[in-house]
Amino acid sequence: MKLTADMQRVVMEQRLGFVATVTPDGEPNLSPKGTTIVLDDAHLMFADIASPGTVANLAVNPHVEINVVDPVVRKGYRFKGTASVHPGGEMYDRGIDALHAHGSSLTRDRVRAIVVVAVTSADILISPAYDGGASEAEIAASWLQRINEAHTSRTETGEHRQT
Ligand SMILES: Cc1cc2nc3c(=O)[nH]c(=O)nc-3n(C[C@H](O)[C@H](O)[C@H](O)COP(=O)(O)O)c2cc1C
Repeated sequence: MKLTADMQRVVMEQRLGFVATVTPDGEPNLSPKGTTIVLDDAHLMFADIASPGTVANLAVNPHVEINVVDPVVRKGYRFKGTASVHPGGEMYDRGIDALHAHGSSLTRDRVRAIVVVAVTSADILISPAYDGGASEAEIAASWLQRINEAHTSRTETGEHRQT
């Protein structure tokens, strides 16, 4: 399928996909990939930097779902597709080039593989926060405030992010 302009916009703005695969035992496996970008209008991709579980699962079952959500506006998309893992070759080079073209400074030695997802279906995700008729601007203002408050109080209490 073809990714719409809005799907591509959300993915490229967020750069964070939550990638679900299935283990050989049928267990769910979900992990975030901050290298999730649009490769072309039918494919998403991410870099395998530290994702042994995801890659091992894809070797057995290439079906994947990726959720990309704007946490401020509380909207996003869920993409289902079929993944191929490229530890080298033309697609690896293309993926590295695409990451660099979108501002990544990742070096090749850090990227074990480029995972390309041919998207087969996509659906919009909208928070039930909109059910009461709130506007996008109202939802965004409220969540920006909550996020700011959480980070401000963390700075004040001297808590630090994990490295
Ligand atoms: C915000 C965030 C972004 C991340 N981005 C990536 C990424 O792009 N590629 C990657 O391989 N790991 C990334 N990671 C690390 C993996 O999610 C983490 O190593 C995870 O345990 C891998 O699980 P898996 O082996 O089941 O895939 C990221 C972690 C966080 C918190």
